[in-house]
Amino acid sequence: MSTLRALVTDAHVVVCCGTGGVGKTTSAAALALEGARAGRRVAVITIDPARRLADTLGLGGSADAEVPRDRWDPDGDAAPGGRLTALMLDPAATFDGLVERYSADAEQRDRILENRFYRSIAGALSGTQEYMAMERLHELHESGAFDLIVVDTPPSRHALDFLDAPARLIRLLDNRVFRVMMLPARRGFRVASGALQLFVRQVGRVIGTAVIDDIIAFFRAFEGMEQGFRDRADAVRTLLAAPDTTFVLVTSPRRDSIDEAVFFADRIADHGLRVDALVANRVHPDFAPGADVERLRGLATAVRDAGAAEPGPDADAAARRTADRLATLADLAEVAAREREALDRVAERTRAPGVVVVPLLARDVHDLDALRAVGQVLTGPAN
Ligand SMILES: Nc1ncnc2c1ncn2[C@@H]1O[C@H](COP(=O)(O)OP(=O)(O)OP(=O)(O)O)[C@@H](O)[C@H]1O
Ligand SMILES: [Mg+2]
Repeated sequence: MSTLRALVTDAHVVVCCGTGGVGKTTSAAALALEGARAGRRVAVITIDPARRLADTLGLGGSADAEVPRDRWDPDGDAAPGGRLTALMLDPAATFDGLVERYSADAEQRDRILENRFYRSIAGALSGTQEYMAMERLHELHESGAFDLIVVDTPPSRHALDFLDAPARLIRLLDNRVFRVMMLPARRGFRVASGALQLFVRQVGRVIGTAVIDDIIAFFRAFEGMEQGFRDRADAVRTLLAAPDTTFVLVTSPRRDSIDEAVFFADRIADHGLRVDALVANRVHPDFAPGADVERLRGLATAVRDAGAAEPGPDADAAARRTADRLATLADLAEVAAREREALDRVAERTRAPGVVVVPLLARDVHDLDALRAVGQVLTGPAN
């Protein structure tokens, strides 16, 4: 059984990470589909899916959506019992949900939600998206409604911040600024934290210095909520370190994304976790396996020269066409060879147990058929 097939049939949590645009959302959706087809109750938490993929997964609104079985199993040949639910993160709205959850009462909740400072930063709170992904993950885990939860990650070098997002949120509440804010306003104060300073400056620019009062009110309103965050952070950490929580690192065979993949693998290792599977997506097919690129180029030149030496334009034109094709084949073989080399290197440098190669497809992966095709390449056959 392939590694990824074992993950979709046995793991409880699969986190898809990697640098921007490599195919994290696609892989997450495709793995979720395979999980459902294997008879499991699956939820996939997506972040900013392409519009057409969102439509495919029924994510028209912001509500969670169960994809009807006849859509993801049109031939009726998937294992019984499977379900596929897709969720999309909406950072601003979800932070409101978080405030609602941890507020001691309706009054505290409203005080925060109606606070002007809060309203202006709710969507931009540093690490919010990462934190929210973890929050939803934990919620779904606790609900007991899902056998498998596949988590997509945001498109940034900071994507793995989710590993310490809970800790960072706590740090925000812990930090000096927070403490200062909690003090009665005296003689003006200096804001120390970089991230917060930026927010304060940005917000201040928009709505003026009166904002300071709002900020103070905002932090006061948070009083007593820290314990909730702290408990949740511990629970998320435990869940991420659980033996049936797995990490799938997605990369493209391009040099820059490989460097990023190594960076991500190191960060995963820093947290005492491991890369369970490495996916190389959008790999060019090798049309001339084992071919010697230089010899192909030499052949193209020889054919072109031979055509030019022939009397008459027809032979010349035919030779040119053949020479052009040989040159294209040489280019493709060169790309394929370069990518193969890069992939060998990434497997070694990320210490991943082998690379699963997904070819560059002719079209974007936005419908269920295409997801299925990717899913099958990822996981291999069901038996
Ligand atoms: N193997 C493939 N062949 C062709 N197109 C692909 C393949 N994999 C993904 N795509 C397409 O590439 C685009 C980027 O993929 P995707 O959105 O999954 O990447 P991502 O890593 O989630 O990006 P971001 O970092 O922006 O969130 C999408 O339009 C997707 O349909
Ligand atoms: Mg994405």
